[in-house]
Amino acid sequence: MGIIFSFPPATCEPRLRAFLARVCASSDLHWRFLNTLSLLEHIGARKIMATQTEGGELCGDTLRHIAEEARHAWFFKRQAEAAAGQALSYDGASIMAGPQARAYMARLDGTIARSSHGARAYLYMSLVIELRAVWFYRIYQDVLTASGKTIKLGGLLAEEDRHLEEMQGQLGALGEDLAVRLADFTAYEEIRFQALLSALERSCP
Ligand SMILES: [Fe+2]
Ligand SMILES: [Fe+2]
Repeated sequence: MGIIFSFPPATCEPRLRAFLARVCASSDLHWRFLNTLSLLEHIGARKIMATQTEGGELCGDTLRHIAEEARHAWFFKRQAEAAAGQALSYDGASIMAGPQARAYMARLDGTIARSSHGARAYLYMSLVIELRAVWFYRIYQDVLTASGKTIKLGGLLAEEDRHLEEMQGQLGALGEDLAVRLADFTAYEEIRFQALLSALERSCP
């Protein structure tokens, strides 16, 4: 199944590329950025686990999704620790724009959960985040390669792509018309993402 709607956050692509190029040029910024991505992946895994354990809808696909998001968190943590040369927690000095990164996930989750419930809330939240993740990781891979970094995001991107298709498929199976609600959710996500990007830019000296 292909993507059945377009996601045009092209307005901030040049900004994101400029930010990523600055981050990749500084090893101190880059390990903190990698650790921030680890935090976001970890929060994603934890949110699925926290919201999908009670409802009786916990299928194998969802457990696999949790496992893969947890592995993404570990992947970025491993890269961050290798670049930093030390073990890293998620404390404020080891990440970038920590409060805004946490707020991005919390506010998106809160907004989507107010207008959809149960499995639908999980599926919409995941879909909106996967759309951003796939767009973001493709650009990040470009900049990593251009900066001479050896980090490869291909496996992670393939998993995010598959999650995206699974979320679409499962929402379709529940009778959801994506064209109706997704535009509102992605428009809100765009606002939250730009706020996060602004905070990340401010945290670069
Ligand atoms: Fe992920
Ligand atoms: Fe994912």
